[in-house]
Amino acid sequence: MTILRFEDLVAQGKAAGQRVFIRADLNVPQDDAGNITEDTRIRASVPAIELALKAGAAVMVTSHLGRPTEGEFKPEDSLAPVAKRLGELLGREVKLVSEWVDGVTVASGEVVMLENCRLNKGEKKNNEALARKMAALCDIFVHDAFGTSHRAEGTTYGIAQFAPIACAGPLLAAEIDAINKALAAPKRPLVAIVAGSKVSTKLTILESLSKNVDGLIVGGGIANTFMLAAGLKIGKSLAEPDLVGAAKAVIEAMKARGAAVPIPEDVVVAKTFSADAEATVKAATDVAEDDLILDIGPKTAAKLAEQLKAAGTIVWNGPVGVFEFDAFSHGTEAIARAIAASPAFSIAGGGDTLAAIAKYGIEKDVGYISTGGGAFLEVLEGKTLPAFEILSQRAAG
Ligand code: 3PG
Repeated sequence: MTILRFEDLVAQGKAAGQRVFIRADLNVPQDDAGNITEDTRIRASVPAIELALKAGAAVMVTSHLGRPTEGEFKPEDSLAPVAKRLGELLGREVKLVSEWVDGVTVASGEVVMLENCRLNKGEKKNNEALARKMAALCDIFVHDAFGTSHRAEGTTYGIAQFAPIACAGPLLAAEIDAINKALAAPKRPLVAIVAGSKVSTKLTILESLSKNVDGLIVGGGIANTFMLAAGLKIGKSLAEPDLVGAAKAVIEAMKARGAAVPIPEDVVVAKTFSADAEATVKAATDVAEDDLILDIGPKTAAKLAEQLKAAGTIVWNGPVGVFEFDAFSHGTEAIARAIAASPAFSIAGGGDTLAAIAKYGIEKDVGYISTGGGAFLEVLEGKTLPAFEILSQRAAG
């Protein structure tokens, strides 16, 4: 897939003096008082903005924040705290412009933030009139919002259709490169870890990966459903018995390709779901009727760690146990440490996965940490995201 890259345009001197509109994903978590509790996405958006500023462009940056009602401004929907944080990171004031669709005043070498783009009527449904107006604000549209690249909205799709030039910012480009390295041309063996509470929310991912990966490690409630599919008893653990057939089909699809879904051989169980519940390690064949499986056992963890250390590429989405509770965190920790120690190229994404990476402090040892939540999952499903579709269409001319 060929797309224009903003870095190349800058290198060719094409951004100097131009009006550059950057769509970032600055949708960050905030506490009740509106304080930003985690600013990774803001930090990740800085390179595109600095690149544009250094190139002498007049820079506008916008994002959505939450899911506000279009046309109904409420103070909690404002990007004001984000503009303040971005200003701190850039070392300059970032003015927030509230009404901006009909025109923005910004000089070359300056940056302004355009208020929450989801407040504009027509944003969500990608209204053409709105998209054309936004496109008219700029000479170059830079899509740098990987986290929102699975949405075809006004600022993520429509503006890219009508702006004179539409390209990918450095963050979006880095995400594409990492995804391609992991899934399109992976060094093998390619091992994916797909964990989480429900098979139903990740079934399409499991099906899509089962056509590509050499090993598919399942964890959490998903693993429980796979254990049922393998004929094991899981007590009162979280599972979806109606999806046992789907799990069996994934196991068969993998087998047919000479690949495998490793089923846990031991597990950590408790009688209640709580941080202070007594944790007991059991063989997967010994789970009692009143047991809850809350983690993989040490034998399983050691085996999976070996598999990960021998992998060429690793894709990680989801913790394999209830890692928030210390007694049930060892499986996820073993997986995290094995990924960190593995020479494989690794890519990780998803909220819980990022929390686990932070908990074990392995950020620097993961090849690429995606800023996408839903977008990352859709990539794993094998979908072409709207952002990439429109940018490659524009690059094709
Ligand atoms: C996210 O947080 O995953 C992105 O910012 C997308 O947000 P959305 O699901 O509201 O489109």
